[in-house]
Amino acid sequence: RLVLAPMVGASELPFRLLSRKYGADLCYTPMIYSARFVEDDAYRQAELRTAPGDAPLVAHFCGNCPATLLKAARLAEPHVCAVDLNLGCPQRVAHSGNFGSYLCATAEGRATVLSIVRTLSSHLRVPVFCKIRLLDELDETLSFVRQLRDAGCALLAVHGRYRGSATRRRDGPAHLEQVAAVVAEVKRAAGEQMPVLSNGNVRSAADLLSALAATGADGVMSAEGALDDPAIF
Ligand SMILES: Cc1cc2nc3c(=O)[nH]c(=O)nc-3n(C[C@H](O)[C@H](O)[C@H](O)COP(=O)(O)O)c2cc1C
Repeated sequence: RLVLAPMVGASELPFRLLSRKYGADLCYTPMIYSARFVEDDAYRQAELRTAPGDAPLVAHFCGNCPATLLKAARLAEPHVCAVDLNLGCPQRVAHSGNFGSYLCATAEGRATVLSIVRTLSSHLRVPVFCKIRLLDELDETLSFVRQLRDAGCALLAVHGRYRGSATRRRDGPAHLEQVAAVVAEVKRAAGEQMPVLSNGNVRSAADLLSALAATGADGVMSAEGALDDPAIF
């Protein structure tokens, strides 16, 4: 229910252990580049450094090639409880690499995402998770969420912000009412089959509880709030 978000330069092993000590139920690795993870032994060792007590752990990958992501996920599979796809990154690096939120911005990109989710969910032993941002229109978000679920997504984290720009990534309050709409849609269409995590607007322990209440989500994910106060959970 209480989840440490993926954070480059933060959700590495030491911070995960600290967060778990203070109540995090589930932790994500920072973003891992799937192609480099497949090709580079040293990168693989460094990015998936784990230890006893560092469980349950989600390996959080970016990429746009189903075959490469499957290879990467298979290498990670013995060490984690799930594999997650970064579908929310708004940074320039995601634009130039065509991954993250940019991959979800066009119908063609979303078709690629669905093919990745189908490939992973049909070949892995561990479940496939997705982390998304809001699309421009709520209807688009809801339809994409239904498609992700049908493709085999087992858990969805929703950062309640739009893509924004590469330099204004987390400005302003998150739109938790849209996260609530996603939760309602998933419950309506799929019962309890795909848990949803709400992400955004959490700066304190009280905010964790109000995000859960406001959205009806199964869990809540925190990044900056957890960095400010690792005991937030
Ligand atoms: C230092 C830092 C690094 C981040 N790295 C990632 C990442 O690797 N992958 C990702 O999907 N989101 C990343 N994010 C975004 C967070 O996971 C989260 O979606 C966002 O910060 C909103 O949550 P918050 O309001 O609790 O901070 C990062 C955020 C921060 C602050």
